[in-house]
Amino acid sequence: VIFTTISSDGIPNAAPIGIHLEEGGLFARIYPSKTLENIKINKMAAANITYDPVIFVRAALTDMESNRFYYEDGFPVLKDAAGWIIFDCKWRENIVELLPLKGKIIQREIMPINRGLNAVIEATVHATRYVVLRENEYYSRIEYNNMIVKKCGGVHEKEAMKLLYELIGK
Ligand SMILES: Cc1cc2nc3c(=O)[nH]c(=O)nc-3n(C[C@H](O)[C@H](O)[C@H](O)COP(=O)(O)O)c2cc1C
Repeated sequence: VIFTTISSDGIPNAAPIGIHLEEGGLFARIYPSKTLENIKINKMAAANITYDPVIFVRAALTDMESNRFYYEDGFPVLKDAAGWIIFDCKWRENIVELLPLKGKIIQREIMPINRGLNAVIEATVHATRYVVLRENEYYSRIEYNNMIVKKCGGVHEKEAMKLLYELIGK
C-alpha cells in the first residue's frame, strides 16, 4: 500500500510500505525514512490502496507534490486512492503497530492479475535499494522486471518504468 504521513511542520509524505497481518493484528516494519520519522512524531499513518503503478514509483522515489493529497480530519490521504484506512500507530524501533481508526472505500474494482503491474512493483522495490546502494545486482533485477513490463504491461506500466529509469538516473 502507499503510506501517507505528516511531518511536525505539516508537510504530507507518501511511500510504499507493506502491511503484515499476524494473529489478527496489523503491523508494518519500517526502516529509517521520512515515513518512520513522521510516525514517531505524529503517531498516525494512512494506508492508501491504489493499483496505479505510476503512484508507486513516484511515492517510492520522489517527494509527492502537496496537490496529490487531501485531508480527512486534518490527516493527508491520496486523492487517487481507491480506498484508505487511517491508523493510530504505536512504534518500537522499526515495528509499527497499526490500530485502525477510520476507513473509506471510494472505488470498488475487479482487478485481474497483470504480470506487468506486478513487475513494476517488484522493480520499484529494487529501485529503492538501488538508489541507496548503487549495486548492479539491484539494477539487473530492475532490467529483468522491465522485460516483463515490456511484454505484459499496459501504457501505465510502461509510463511507470520510464519514470523509474529517469528517477534512478538511467
Ligand atoms: C512495494 C514496496 C514496498 C515497500 N515496503 C517497505 C516496507 O514495508 N518497509 C520499509 O521500510 N520500506 C518499504 N519500501 C521502501 C520505501 O518505500 C522507500 O524506502 C521510500 O523511499 C521511503 O520513503 P520516505 O523516506 O518518503 O518515507 C517499499 C517499497 C516498495 C516499492
